[in-house]
Amino acid sequence: MKKTMIKKGKKAILEGANLIKRGEVVVFPTETVYGLGANAFDETAVKKIFLVKGRPQDNPLIVHVERKEQIYDLAKEVNEYAKIIMDKFMPGPITIILKKNPIISDVVTAGLDSVGIRMPKHTVARKFIKECALPIAAPSANISTHISPTTSKDVFEDLNGKVDLIIEGGRCNVGIESTIVDLTKEIPVILRPGGITQRMLTKALGCCQLFSGEVKVALAPGMKYKHYAPNCEMIVAHKEKIISAYNDALKEGKNPIIICEDNVSKDLQKVKFINLGKGANNIMKNIFSAMHEAQKISDYIICQHFGTRGARLSVMNRVVKAAGGNVL
Ligand code: TXA
Ligand code: MG
Repeated sequence: MKKTMIKKGKKAILEGANLIKRGEVVVFPTETVYGLGANAFDETAVKKIFLVKGRPQDNPLIVHVERKEQIYDLAKEVNEYAKIIMDKFMPGPITIILKKNPIISDVVTAGLDSVGIRMPKHTVARKFIKECALPIAAPSANISTHISPTTSKDVFEDLNGKVDLIIEGGRCNVGIESTIVDLTKEIPVILRPGGITQRMLTKALGCCQLFSGEVKVALAPGMKYKHYAPNCEMIVAHKEKIISAYNDALKEGKNPIIICEDNVSKDLQKVKFINLGKGANNIMKNIFSAMHEAQKISDYIICQHFGTRGARLSVMNRVVKAAGGNVL
């Protein structure tokens, strides 16, 4: 068991960078979710990430950089689509998949010939990666299949005893993981929707598809795993079905809770609920922390169906998975 410390400020960043250089793993904040980082050039260090998370070895990691020039070192070719994204959306909540350079180990990419690269915007993330002076391989800082953390407290509850240091960075502003866009094919394909939407990407790139369909091969190995699951039962319900689902759960002796946006919560009476706030950005920012909170105080989560426009689609991608596809 390690003694896990949450620290903030310049000292924490220096201490984190020293741990990284010594081959250890460190939790750091980004604008999407907290990440569990290691030196991307150190196979032994990267293996520790998989160990701490209990992550399947065939699920590749994203490499985080602080300067755009680093992308040219990691990728075999930086194509036109990549250049546009780097120009318009980086730093920010987006990950690009490019053909990899041999410098990136198969341990990081799970043997794929491509690598996911992201340049976070969060000031603490940027200072930390800069201080490390290395590319940082990092998945979300949660045990595999658990909900991604958007506060240091959420990280602590999941990884206490497993890491030395969590660098404090406040609540993550975007709140769900980055948009992943595969740029190795003829047309850019979104493998995981996020804060940068299909519409934004299509406008910038001229074209951009949303991946749909079964994942059987190593296209994006993460897509085939169960994800974001709370430790209690969860369903997604259309607005008009929320109350009946709540009452049914009560009748069955459950202790239900509703997660919904402002528009819906204003009409709720005599039920337990968590309000995510107003509009798509707040829904996205608060969804994971609401799930964290809900699983602590309830045994049955009823999450509102948020619709499929823009960032709402990205949130739905997470909650439908968390509910195991159970939508009313
Ligand atoms: O916002 C984020 O992306 C956060 C923060 C920490 O940066 N990171 C994150 O990492 O969400 P993780 O490991 O939880 O999710 C990364 C996803 C996985 O589903 C993985 O399969 C996919 O990215 N991925 C990584 N490299 C890939 C590649 N070369 N080709 C296809 N998918 C890849
Ligand atoms: Mg994850």
